[in-house]
Amino acid sequence: MPPLSRKGDLTEMSPPPTLRIATIPGDGIGPEVLTVGRAVVDAVAETSSEFSVDWTELPWGCGYYEQTGRMMPEDGLAVLREFDAIYFGAVGWPTVPDSTSLWGLRLAICQGLDLWANIRPVTFLPGVSGPLRDSESRRLSWVMVRENSEGEYSGIGGRNLAARGRGGEVAIETALFTEAGCERIIRYAFELALRHPVRRLTSVTKSNAQRYGMVLWDEVFARVAEAYPQVQTDSCLVDAMAARMVLRPESLSVAVASNLYADILSDLGSALSGSLGLGASANLDPAGQAPCMFEPVHGSAPDIAGQGIANPIGAVMSAALMLEHLGFANAAAEIERAVLATTASGALSPDLGGENSTVEIGNALVEAMQTGGIPMEIGPAT
Ligand code: NAI
Ligand code: MG
Repeated sequence: MPPLSRKGDLTEMSPPPTLRIATIPGDGIGPEVLTVGRAVVDAVAETSSEFSVDWTELPWGCGYYEQTGRMMPEDGLAVLREFDAIYFGAVGWPTVPDSTSLWGLRLAICQGLDLWANIRPVTFLPGVSGPLRDSESRRLSWVMVRENSEGEYSGIGGRNLAARGRGGEVAIETALFTEAGCERIIRYAFELALRHPVRRLTSVTKSNAQRYGMVLWDEVFARVAEAYPQVQTDSCLVDAMAARMVLRPESLSVAVASNLYADILSDLGSALSGSLGLGASANLDPAGQAPCMFEPVHGSAPDIAGQGIANPIGAVMSAALMLEHLGFANAAAEIERAVLATTASGALSPDLGGENSTVEIGNALVEAMQTGGIPMEIGPAT
């Protein structure tokens, strides 16, 4: 990734930098929610004058597959390396097997660029009621840290022996846990927990039943924890964790888990905050060698695609994570404040019980930023 033309060294004379962002809207509601995310970023670029954005749209996804037989071009990773960041919608459409579309694009990018840290904040927004009791959820702020390069999604395995006839085939799906892979994600989660208002980190495994990789994970967690006495820690089995998120949500702050478990638990987290459409995420290479990818947690939602009712907030909050990562924390905070003001005002999409379309939510967000009319009493629960 070429360096940004500026990061924190702005002099009065230097022009604001141009962020080169690759967008991959993908399939289904991906393009619908990214259109809103882009409009919000353009609006904050205009009001802040801190940067401008040069968007390059890449038409990769299931439509591209039907034309070319590939989800992205052969040199797709090299193309992406030329950008400062990647803004991704969602991938998947009924005409292409899900395992082909996901492995051909999202997983190909995350593994191919070694974006090994997937950060998924769960934000409880004002004006949004979820399945948790209001008095509890108002104070909650979670971050799910997901190992994003190995574990259950290592891609190692195969199918064979189909020649034995019906019922004779075997399939092996191997989970891979390396000590280096466990250590880097666990250390990253501790660093994140240090900066979180509640310095608590929960490690999630299933090391009673899965006694090799998950036990290695537990041992690495205990070892790394020694270097972070300021962070309160605990370990929780994944099945108990699912129940704890519902029944004792206040006992959680930052959680770290394997690729599969954090994938599942972050959907649960988004649903508990009100909707799958709210979840935002960052796929990071903390070493800074590759452009990082920002995307909503949800998929392409074919059941509501084309209806104009997708909730764009997960995509918008992902754009805020992108700007924060690129060094523009003020712009990111401005977007977050606009989201809080918009949901508090009652502008909600149907998945949250509201009646507003994707475009109407986008307009409300842009207006909140342009007017700056954001009530001070609205702030994230900590
Ligand atoms: P999904 O996340 O697309 O949808 C699950 C449910 O949540 C659906 O009822 C959908 O309407 C709803 N939903 C999701 N996002 C929403 C939004 N922004 N606003 C309102 N409602 C929303 O998951 P599903 O149905 O399991 O998968 C659909 C396709 O997406 C599949 O092809 C799957 O492989 C793919 N997928 C892709 C992901 C990615 O690109 N990162 C992640 C998860 C799934
Ligand atoms: Mg998922």
